[in-house]
Amino acid sequence: MSTEEQGSQKSGAPADRSSSVGSDTAEASKVAPAKGKLGVMVVGLGAVATTMIAGVEAVRRGLAKPIGSLTQMGTIRLGKRTDNKSPLIKDFVPLAGLDDLVFTGWDIFEDNVYESAAHAAVLDKETLAKLKPYLETIKPLPAVFDQYYVKRLHGTHVKKGKNKRDLADQLIADIRNFKKTVDRVVMIWTGSTEIFLEPTAVHQSIDAFEKGLETDDIGIAPSQIYAYAALSEGVPFANGAPNLTVDTPALIELSKRNAAPICGKDFKTGQTFMKTVLAPAFKARMLGVSGWFSTNILGNRDGEVLDDPQSFKTKEESKLGSLEYIFQPDLYPDLYKNLYHKIRINYYPPRGDDKEAWDNIDIFGWLGYPMQIKVNFQCRDSILAAPIALDLVLFLDLAKRTPELRSRGIQEWLSFYLKSPQTAAGLYPEHDLFIQSMKLKNTLRHIMGADLITHLGLEYYD
Ligand SMILES: NC(=O)c1ccc[n+]([C@@H]2O[C@H](COP(=O)([O-])OP(=O)(O)OC[C@H]3O[C@@H](n4cnc5c(N)ncnc54)[C@H](O)[C@@H]3O)[C@@H](O)[C@H]2O)c1
Repeated sequence: MSTEEQGSQKSGAPADRSSSVGSDTAEASKVAPAKGKLGVMVVGLGAVATTMIAGVEAVRRGLAKPIGSLTQMGTIRLGKRTDNKSPLIKDFVPLAGLDDLVFTGWDIFEDNVYESAAHAAVLDKETLAKLKPYLETIKPLPAVFDQYYVKRLHGTHVKKGKNKRDLADQLIADIRNFKKTVDRVVMIWTGSTEIFLEPTAVHQSIDAFEKGLETDDIGIAPSQIYAYAALSEGVPFANGAPNLTVDTPALIELSKRNAAPICGKDFKTGQTFMKTVLAPAFKARMLGVSGWFSTNILGNRDGEVLDDPQSFKTKEESKLGSLEYIFQPDLYPDLYKNLYHKIRINYYPPRGDDKEAWDNIDIFGWLGYPMQIKVNFQCRDSILAAPIALDLVLFLDLAKRTPELRSRGIQEWLSFYLKSPQTAAGLYPEHDLFIQSMKLKNTLRHIMGADLITHLGLEYYD
């Protein structure tokens, strides 16, 4: 399916509207350049984080290509199809270069990034050996952690504080120290999946949240303390896990107030990536779906954490939403009202990070005749997640430098990367990968004052 078929539209109008509004080229000059070093503060230096950091270093040294990264390899069409103008995204928008990235982070274990990457066993020993001198220089800061929120982990490298406010202040001190060594900072959560939490009174305003930090409110999980620290310091924050984290009125308000863009939740990597490709195709053709059974085996630490029912519940909620929103059963009751959707994640140590996912999809066509589709995805979880984490870091930094984006809070245009995209209150999320891709690229065109692509294309037939 092509995402950039036909037509173009002047920038200035929302990407999914078809009316043409005058181009505002003055906007382009307002995106500040990516000068100096970009500091990346990574929460949780496990499989995804170490694969991202090692990968960036491998690319910097010319040892490998940044496959899977839209910011590094993607192009963006400008103007008509006949114009033949498709620059690289990184040449079109001012992104931080990989040479300017400086990594630091926190973990509940003392392992440096080399040791942690070796433990995760995603990258082979030869590759890691070449990168070892660099990777072992990145040592985690002590983490904010509480086993109540991640049952399967026993952290040893953790901060002590008299309450959650004190812990937030310690994280703020870490951020300020790091800021002295770089020009800009972005934070990304690649830590474990926490237990399922829903917003409560403490999440309704910044005031309530700050009081909750003082009183150690149980609704405030460690990921929220990191996010609070980042946003208080005007630092953009990406949530790569399904945790509640920044998906609350309090932290959205803080994000807007301090011009610190946010996005979440949960990297869209294996099975959900496939779902958000296949489901839009069935719907586009008005094919019905009566059942969708998804199961996975994986044996990494993430799998071990998800073996706990309370962490699994957080992941399950994140994975379940996509089909419901894509199929819109209220609009198409004959096709999707009785869909049975089931998701299983099984911890199976022999597989390590090499997750295997199976989907059985029961569909029906003309006159209700049934058919089946089987998908067997033998993926490498962190190989898929690492470029997503990198792109989110680079795009959040871009958003921070873009006056039109930085005080909007949630960056919905980054839904493309996320399993359970955050949206404004009352707005349903777009899960269709191709709508998400168009939204992302049109946002880039828009902030640079280029024409949007509408796919109308009548002008080719004048
Ligand atoms: N691997 C993927 O493809 C993928 C896809 C989507 C989402 N995710 C999510 O990304 C997250 C990371 O996945 P992973 O495979 O790297 O897991 P991992 O277990 O290898 O890494 C997580 C790391 O976070 C650390 N950690 C936990 N709580 C912490 C805290 N409070 N502060 C600092 N560090 C903390 C752990 O010690 C561990 O090193 C998980 O939440 C996972 O569900 C992963």
